[in-house]
Amino acid sequence: MVYLDSGATTKVDPEVIKAMMPYFTEKYGNASSTHQKGQEAKRTLNDARQIIAKSIGAKDEEIIFTSGGTEANNFVLKGIAFANKDKGNRANHGFALPREQGSLGHIITTKIEHDCVLNSCKWLETQGFKVTYLDVDESGFVKPEDLENAITPETLLVSIIHGNNEIGTIQNLKELSAVCKKYNVYFHTDACQSYTKTKLNVKKQNLDLVTLNSHKIHGPRGVGALYIRKGTNITPLLHGGGQEFGLRSGTDNVAGVVGFAKAVQLANQKHVEYMTRLRDKLIEGVLKIPDTRLNGPTNDKRLCNNVNVSFKYVEGEAIGGYLDAEEINTSTGSACSSPKLEPSHVLLAIGLKPEQAHGSLRLTISRFTTEQEINRVLDVLPKVIAKLRKMSPLVKFIKKI
Ligand SMILES: Cc1ncc(COP(=O)(O)O)c(C=O)c1O
Repeated sequence: MVYLDSGATTKVDPEVIKAMMPYFTEKYGNASSTHQKGQEAKRTLNDARQIIAKSIGAKDEEIIFTSGGTEANNFVLKGIAFANKDKGNRANHGFALPREQGSLGHIITTKIEHDCVLNSCKWLETQGFKVTYLDVDESGFVKPEDLENAITPETLLVSIIHGNNEIGTIQNLKELSAVCKKYNVYFHTDACQSYTKTKLNVKKQNLDLVTLNSHKIHGPRGVGALYIRKGTNITPLLHGGGQEFGLRSGTDNVAGVVGFAKAVQLANQKHVEYMTRLRDKLIEGVLKIPDTRLNGPTNDKRLCNNVNVSFKYVEGEAIGGYLDAEEINTSTGSACSSPKLEPSHVLLAIGLKPEQAHGSLRLTISRFTTEQEINRVLDVLPKVIAKLRKMSPLVKFIKKI
């Protein structure tokens, strides 16, 4: 089986499983318990917190563990919106706001976010918040001037994805956060896909909130973290026993967090270089197929594990099905939206026509992908495309014209 869907999730590294095991069998204490087993769990939790914090230049107490990226993104959007509603941005606190009647506040995001951000924003609109969804250019980049033009005295939060899950675009966070700082607006980035694959430092990039998750980097599924800059005004989503500094109640997932921290420790620059080489080989080979286009940017502005291509006259779903029959796992978009059979909102946002978006395929590699696997895909894929094009009524129709 060739697994090229690491953007959806990754194989858990055997070393991660080994590190987690004792926390199921012997060290199963609740980190909130005061006895020895509990205190041992608490120390372990805090060691893991330190590893995650250090990896992005944060302080330990600025890291909150969550059940994953979806929860962390929901927490940011709803937690910041409700904590700061009616206040406008911090540059305007204390002033009368010339805010639109009926709006509790304004949030800015983009048209290429993960569904958990977009759907949280849509829900916030039903609650009385106003949301601007920024356009992106043909490679998926947000223009800083567009962001600046969208900021109003009502703007509470800007949330922009770091590495795009579908087309691999890596935004220039420093440039975007500088705009937010100018107007004293909170800046959040969803770094689920980019974490450990490109530079991420909350001080150097001036970030207020950052979403991380474990299962894209060979850690366990169901674990994530949120960086919250000290002093940020945010209200919790989950109320209960007051774990995670009162910001995220619920018994801590110690085994999961241990696995997450181990995955972070195992990730390194050599893996990034290795994946980049395989990615570029894959792109070069796939683009030899006629009538094929690469979606998203090239080189270091693209995630090292992402390839997204559109093939004229064929459906991505059909390509995926044929590849699956050849034991090659791929996807047509983000895992969450692929069963919808709707054209990807990200591909439409970079200007593809719906028929081009329908003919797209995402191939996402990991450090466990081998060169032989890439060779096999480059052998099978052109044959699959040729076969599908032979059957395609679209090709016949276009030829007739
Ligand atoms: C960019 C991005 N954000 C958020 C998520 C959701 O993360 P999780 O699966 O941990 O809830 C994903 C992955 O599915 C993602 O790719």
